[in-house]
Amino acid sequence: GSLPDYQIDPYRLAEDDLKDMFDDIRLELINNTTQEELQPISTYYLDGQGKAIRPILAVLMARAINYHKGRNDLSHAQRQVAMISEMIHTSSLLHDDVIDQSDIRRGKPSVNVVWSQKKVAMAGDYILAVACRMLSKLQNDDVTVTVSQIVTDLVQGEFMQLGSKETENERFAHYLTKTYRKTASLIANCTKAVAILAEVDDHMVEMAFQYGRNVGLAFQLVDDLLDFVASSEALGKPTAADLKLGLATAPVLFACERYPELNVMIMRRFQEHGDVEKAFELVHKSNGLEQTRFLAKKHCAEANKIVQSFAKSPYQKALSIMADLVINRMK
Ligand code: FPP
Ligand code: MG
Ligand code: MG
Repeated sequence: GSLPDYQIDPYRLAEDDLKDMFDDIRLELINNTTQEELQPISTYYLDGQGKAIRPILAVLMARAINYHKGRNDLSHAQRQVAMISEMIHTSSLLHDDVIDQSDIRRGKPSVNVVWSQKKVAMAGDYILAVACRMLSKLQNDDVTVTVSQIVTDLVQGEFMQLGSKETENERFAHYLTKTYRKTASLIANCTKAVAILAEVDDHMVEMAFQYGRNVGLAFQLVDDLLDFVASSEALGKPTAADLKLGLATAPVLFACERYPELNVMIMRRFQEHGDVEKAFELVHKSNGLEQTRFLAKKHCAEANKIVQSFAKSPYQKALSIMADLVINRMK
């Protein structure tokens, strides 16, 4: 018989599929180069300490959709997409740590502390190159175009983050587009790609995409929230990091409504002495954190609604639980 819903643990359900995945990614990265130093740099974050949220969502979506079609499996190509999702993510982290000059990630010295910026940037490109090779081997144009879009979106998202908009309205729209591009696109296009590989109709592919988009937006909104409320110990990286980087995320943008004095600080990217502390305090005094959580919950509810249209299965249920876990995560 089937387990009662409350006993479904999405991580347990994806565990077997994920078990050798990180070993396989590491092997790909080790076997595709004779340049020995690229190996430890490119595999530095593939140490099993990450949340693996992208491959988990890809695998659960693949299985939920396959089940919808009467199959109980995960195809080789779908598994490759799950691997590629983590590789693109890891590649972006290497570039990100150089751009952000970070010193700690996941509780260990970040990659740019251990190796030079030049080597880290190139190792990030190398991971992406190996992922491209794997993608091309799937020989599915639709999947290639879908997954390639992620990289364009990541780069554009980072570019958007470099600038600020003048008016409050423009700023929020800019923030949401940026958030889609830097986080949600990766999840959405991977849940879409595994649906394409299941050969379901366009509507179902769109549902898979929208699920990923909503979970991705919720995930990043919570990330932006945690930057204000979680301890650096729990996160494995410093808090208020976004303010320190000059970034105004949802909690600050919401807080602006009540404390318009934040506007000038946003425009000068919190660079003047005391800006970071003042903005941090005003965000906590405002309802910006609640509003951010509320918006994240809205996207999570939307994701939940979408998976209700899939055939009932443990995987379908797990996708729904994952949307809730994204909201309630502590790190
Ligand atoms: C982490 O965000 C970074 C990203 C989600 C995307 C970074 C993308 C690039 C640097 C573009 C280049 C990408 C490729 C694949 C060539 P964060 O800095 O807000 O979060 P953090 O606290 O985890 O550092
Ligand atoms: Mg960063
Ligand atoms: Mg960054």
